[in-house]
Amino acid sequence: MLQKIAEAVDFIKKIYNEKPALGIVLGSGLGSFVNEINIEKEIPYKDIPHFPVSTVEGHSGKLIFGELAGKKIVAMAGRFHYYEGYSSEQIVFPIRVLKFLGIDTLLVSNAAGAVNPNFKVGDLMIITDHISQLSPNPLIGKNYKELGPRFPDMSEPYKKHLINKVKAIAAEKNIKLKEGVYVAVTGPTFETRAEYKMILTLGGDAVGMSTVQEVITAVHMGLPVFAMSVITDVGIREDDTVITHEEVLQAAKDAEPNFKILICELIAQL
Ligand code: HPA
Repeated sequence: MLQKIAEAVDFIKKIYNEKPALGIVLGSGLGSFVNEINIEKEIPYKDIPHFPVSTVEGHSGKLIFGELAGKKIVAMAGRFHYYEGYSSEQIVFPIRVLKFLGIDTLLVSNAAGAVNPNFKVGDLMIITDHISQLSPNPLIGKNYKELGPRFPDMSEPYKKHLINKVKAIAAEKNIKLKEGVYVAVTGPTFETRAEYKMILTLGGDAVGMSTVQEVITAVHMGLPVFAMSVITDVGIREDDTVITHEEVLQAAKDAEPNFKILICELIAQL
């Protein structure tokens, strides 16, 4: 594992040799965030040793290096999901590589379904905490102490100081924000009506098929995380509508302007 990380890092550094201050993982439908970046280098995942390759529509599959709000950043345009058939270890590999490229902060975004009855399509939700128990923990297996401890503390996976910064930015820019607990599931099915209710009962506000494994890995390595969901559908509903991936992508696109404002300003203030 350590060898694989080193090989990927060496390969990337031969192409782009500046230390990014932060990394951002772009979720479904949020890919056009890359237009905000003054791009210096793009590296397709398929070229990077040991990187998995993304298969989902709406996820293009490359690392983008460049400048945003005066900071050097690296964006993951496209991420890996358990439902694609990747192991947890493959899913989190890029996060480990970003850490060894030198990032000090990880920003994570995703599309999620609401179970909180006060949420609606298009809302932005700051993730304040998560429940990972419905998806496999990426740290199962040998622990590499060079990466982090066997039993990482998870009492504050999403850093309060970053959450508070974003809340202040939202208040100043008059952007309405929700906050809540993200429940990770494997997918690829959207939930049944009974499952959405179960997720609410468990203490969830939103549910999605990503993020938590990446965040656990970041916390393991001592990397501060901020994460935000775009609410793309409402799980608990009486009507007989169905949820489609196209709808999820469109809702995420619609919410993108406010997402961009918040994230760009957060990056400027870091
Ligand atoms: N459930 C799970 N994952 C999702 C959803 C959902 O309703 N919406 C977007 N990703």
